[in-house]
Amino acid sequence: MAEQNIFILGIESSCDDTSASVIHNGTILSNVVANQKIHEAYGGVVPELASRAHQQNIVPVVDQALKKAGITKEQLHAIAFTRGPGLMGSLLVGTSFAKSLAYGLNIPLIDVNHMQGHILAHFIDEKGYNKPPFPFLAMTISGGHTQIVRVEHYFDMTVIGETIDDAVGEAFDKSGKILGLGYPAGPEIDKRAKLGNPKAYTFTKPRVTGLNFSFSGLKTAILYFIQKETKANPNFIEENLNDICASIQYTIIGILIDKLKKASKETGIKHIAIGGGVSANSGIRQALKDGEQKFGWTTYIPKFEYTTDNAAMIAIVGYLKYLEGDFAEWDVMASARLKI
Ligand code: KG4
Ligand code: ZN
Repeated sequence: MAEQNIFILGIESSCDDTSASVIHNGTILSNVVANQKIHEAYGGVVPELASRAHQQNIVPVVDQALKKAGITKEQLHAIAFTRGPGLMGSLLVGTSFAKSLAYGLNIPLIDVNHMQGHILAHFIDEKGYNKPPFPFLAMTISGGHTQIVRVEHYFDMTVIGETIDDAVGEAFDKSGKILGLGYPAGPEIDKRAKLGNPKAYTFTKPRVTGLNFSFSGLKTAILYFIQKETKANPNFIEENLNDICASIQYTIIGILIDKLKKASKETGIKHIAIGGGVSANSGIRQALKDGEQKFGWTTYIPKFEYTTDNAAMIAIVGYLKYLEGDFAEWDVMASARLKI
């Protein structure tokens, strides 16, 4: 990367995490994330509560990010923010804040696509982590998204597969809800899956053509299965929870890996990068490692704090766009359904 001395502030507020990060060239100096615990009581993100919490969090979070980085706002060269996709009310908070601050400081504003952020997080300079070479395949898996993207260059990417209904994180969370687990259920299912038999129960995988995914049928299959089994044995869930979790996780991983295999075969690309909250899953990490042996893949998993929603990934995209002089107009609007 070019030898320069650039400080950029990244702001992320697309869903239920308020985050701010300062990047110095390609190195992250701070990445502050305020999670919104309030949604746990509702078993999912409540949009109106999310945008209110962003309003409360944004000033202290940005302030902390600058302090941790050891710089003042006057030292910033540009401000990057998540323009979309995401929840409109949440995006509006980050967008308006970024605009006002950049305008006040008289520095450029850079709009960032959240999904590109998840992918380009791999280009943060971080000891012990390799950057994928172009072209590579990126699979973004979280509570809000499930995509396979062919990445030719930083800003030359094509979505080649995506979910036609629920995201994979929702498949974990909604299955967990059926089992009476807390929200989000992904980490708990992961923990229990390690103690259970993944082949104890079988759930049919959805039949979706091409590289697209579908997870809503799986959730319904699990619901009917649990209803049937608890009718016969009211203690079925508690007696078999680890096996149920292991079987659900095994099915979900199978769906993801099948499509990745297909994408790799069709494109001839063997460099595979993943991102998004679900990439924390130990089973998916193991399945990717196995893919290195079985299919000759080289896999890339970013540092954990850059996989879930965070502003460091927005800051790195801001830096890459800054180098290209790709700035936003002042009338740029948040866009809930922004495409890659
Ligand atoms: O990226 P993220 O923090 O937020 C967005 O949804 O954008 O992802 C959160 C999702 C939740 O659905 C959560 O259940 C899932 O990631 N998750 C996991 C694990 N850790 C987080 N799913 C499976 N296994 C995990 N270890
Ligand atoms: Zn995300």
